[in-house]
Amino acid sequence: MTPLLELKNVRAAYDAITVLHGIDLSVSAGQVVALLGPNGAGKTTTLNVAAGNHPVKSGQLWLGGRDATGMALGDVARAGVCLIPEGRGVFPNLTVRENLQMMTFTGRSREEIEEIAFSRFPILGKRASQTAGTMSGGEQQMLALSRGLATDPAVLLLDELSMGLAPLIVAELYEQVAEIARQGVAVLIVEQFAAAVLDYADYAAVLVRGRVGHHGQPDAEFKKELATLYLGSSS
Ligand SMILES: Nc1ncnc2c1ncn2[C@@H]1O[C@H](COP(=O)(O)OP(=O)(O)O)[C@@H](O)[C@H]1O
Ligand SMILES: [Mg+2]
Repeated sequence: MTPLLELKNVRAAYDAITVLHGIDLSVSAGQVVALLGPNGAGKTTTLNVAAGNHPVKSGQLWLGGRDATGMALGDVARAGVCLIPEGRGVFPNLTVRENLQMMTFTGRSREEIEEIAFSRFPILGKRASQTAGTMSGGEQQMLALSRGLATDPAVLLLDELSMGLAPLIVAELYEQVAEIARQGVAVLIVEQFAAAVLDYADYAAVLVRGRVGHHGQPDAEFKKELATLYLGSSS
């Protein structure tokens, strides 16, 4: 199967400082790939490269089997890549309904977008008139996911979805993410601490100081390697 998202030997930098030193990653339709790593490893930068938000210094970004390196941000979005950034997925001063209504720029009607959101996350229907910023963290992530789904993404990029959330809420969100993948979306999910994501991932990689340190099936062996890499990089 042709991967929907591929990073090929990607190097990326902020000014003169290179922070990604040759990243290879590939996500196919229906797959959940987890990218784990400590703070500062380059996870967010990797997602920004994948979303066309950050330029590559060398290497390539491929989307749907085509070279998309250097493509403009809007074209990457039109190619079906949707990034839900860390903690910035919703407008806190707007209601749930208003947050969803903004997504009508995609050409979908308000009714359609609300149907997508409220069928997947019924609690959002109950909160339709509530200001997003006053909802729980989990509910805000559900809203952020719903806004992403309104774009009908081929590739969904999630940055630290679980940050600050209780384990039960995180499990509920991951269930939905896995379900989204089952419907044919390629999902790349980045987490710093959440080893729990490994229970939902088909493939996982650990990023340490801008390099993929270990990758493979997220089995017991993987979890052992993960612990070693984290301990090794903490000094
Ligand atoms: N806007 C920026 N300007 C300069 N350096 C940055 C910027 N954003 C991130 N960095 C640096 O790039 C490296 C990777 O950061 P990031 O991709 O945010 O890692 P992570 O998401 O894994 O915590 C870090 O050393 C960080 O300090
Ligand atoms: Mg980050």
